[in-house]
Amino acid sequence: MDLGIAGRVALVSGATSGLGRAVAVALAAEGARVAICGRDEHRLAAAAARVTDAAAAYRAGDAPERGCVRADRVDLRDHDAVRGWIDAVATDLGGPDIVVSNAGGPPAGPVTAFDLAAYRDAVELCLLAHIGFVQAALPRMRAAGWGRILLVASETVRQPRPQYGLSNTVRPGLVGYAKSLVPEIAPDGVTINVLAPGYHRTPALTGQFDDPDAGLARIAAGIPVGRIGDPDDFAATAAFLASERAGFITGSTVLVDGGATQGW
Ligand SMILES: NC(=O)c1ccc[n+]([C@@H]2O[C@H](COP(=O)([O-])OP(=O)(O)OC[C@H]3O[C@@H](n4cnc5c(N)ncnc54)[C@H](OP(=O)(O)O)[C@@H]3O)[C@@H](O)[C@H]2O)c1
Repeated sequence: MDLGIAGRVALVSGATSGLGRAVAVALAAEGARVAICGRDEHRLAAAAARVTDAAAAYRAGDAPERGCVRADRVDLRDHDAVRGWIDAVATDLGGPDIVVSNAGGPPAGPVTAFDLAAYRDAVELCLLAHIGFVQAALPRMRAAGWGRILLVASETVRQPRPQYGLSNTVRPGLVGYAKSLVPEIAPDGVTINVLAPGYHRTPALTGQFDDPDAGLARIAAGIPVGRIGDPDDFAATAAFLASERAGFITGSTVLVDGGATQGW
């Protein structure tokens, strides 16, 4: 299926690792012009190389003028830096047409394990950073009359988990933000959806266990499809929601969790 995004300019934040990097690779493989960011210089360079490989593979098979990659060190909580990044990418590549707002998650632990400062940090990282990114990119997308916004949250927006108290508490705000934005931006051809990943094999997840193989096996046993997600599973869903063909999907929260969430 041609997703119809070749030549579109995609911004993917938190793309030096895990889910964000997989999404950037998937978009580059579709011929999008991809700008990634993250904070760690070395991971950023390694991720840029992988995204560049995907773009090169696309160019080899199709239009050589399409598919290019830009990488910048940006902390998504730094709103001035985010605005500067968007301006620089717009000048360099155009757009943005696609915004994938992703960053790290808050620390794991039950709700009583954290003081107010930790809750404030979680609000900054998991809510305000995403809102700031979207608000800064929106005027260009609305003016262009086309846009796709994806907010990467967590399955905890649907299925609170006792061990992820900060995520359970803060992330549902993203759903409220997205839902509230829909009627404002739909007439301008811009969609916004929340992606709610369940357990995926990334450094953020494996780092939670002393013995990652045993820990992941325990989790996989509780997932109906019988395995942990691969970042490529998540990226394929994101690429579709970012596509031309997904224009009638907006305001949705899309679970990518192998059936782990039992409610609807
Ligand atoms: N993997 C799972 O099973 C799972 C399940 C549910 C929800 N999630 C959520 O999905 C998101 C992505 O998770 P992941 O598993 O891909 O994690 P990951 O492998 O740790 O990747 C997180 C990415 O975000 C970047 N990042 C972190 N803080 C940032 C900031 N302030 N500004 C810019 N970039 C930042 C990191 O790069 P730098 O360190 O270089 O900045 C990295 O590229 C997280 O919010 C996570 O909580 C993941």
